[in-house]
Amino acid sequence: MTELERIDRAAAYIRGIAGESDLGVVLGSGLGDYAEEMTDARVIPYDDIPGFPHATVAGHAGELWAGTLHGSRVLMMRGRFHSYEGHPLNDVVLPIRVMSRLGIKTLILTNAAGAVNLNFAPGDLMLITDFINFSGKNPLTGPNIDELGPRFPDMSRAYDKREGVYAWFNGPTYETPAEIRMARVLGADAVGMSTVPETIAAVHAGMQVLGISCLTNMAAGILDAPLSHQEVTETAERVRGTFRTLLDGVIAALHA
Ligand code: HPA
Repeated sequence: MTELERIDRAAAYIRGIAGESDLGVVLGSGLGDYAEEMTDARVIPYDDIPGFPHATVAGHAGELWAGTLHGSRVLMMRGRFHSYEGHPLNDVVLPIRVMSRLGIKTLILTNAAGAVNLNFAPGDLMLITDFINFSGKNPLTGPNIDELGPRFPDMSRAYDKREGVYAWFNGPTYETPAEIRMARVLGADAVGMSTVPETIAAVHAGMQVLGISCLTNMAAGILDAPLSHQEVTETAERVRGTFRTLLDGVIAALHA
């Protein structure tokens, strides 16, 4: 089976349950239950979708929710696939490509990230304006799927809003203080372990991308304290209400 056949088989399964959609949303750490805002929601476990990988991170449910929100037909991912879990990048970006085949032209990516820019504080929300790919990997490596997009896609306007630059490190280790200093000198405002491969696949397929980071912690070496997953989840939980209000406003405005 070709990769395109694999993508289209998953898309056909979802289309059979939920039809086509207008908007895709990837819910990052702490945001998962935002999916419950939708009316007429149908829950599709990733395990039921042919060819979908299995989500392994605690706090990520592994479900696709299809429903209506502010007049748009929306597909929301509760749980995403990360490279650091061992997923090949074609698996990481499979749901994005499936969304593109389901008619989705606009994608909202959310994540938790560490603040590199010293003007930010834990709990701030950052609109992503651009990315730096520090992983050395790219989801478009290998034969190009011409039906999705071009061999050499332009990334000069990957995101639609301006605020800060998100740098992707593969993880699962948090960065070292030296890596954070390097990232800052090279123009990063935040760092994280997701979002960039999904953005690349989305831009390749001609989608419009809005990225929002919840800065859950100051990146490594900025404060005299170790980083922990607990700090990340606690801050994400604290900011959840604000993040949901922002998302709600964006989704309502997109439909207007
Ligand atoms: N680094 C990488 N990923 C993250 C961080 C961080 O500091 N915080 C939340 N996700």
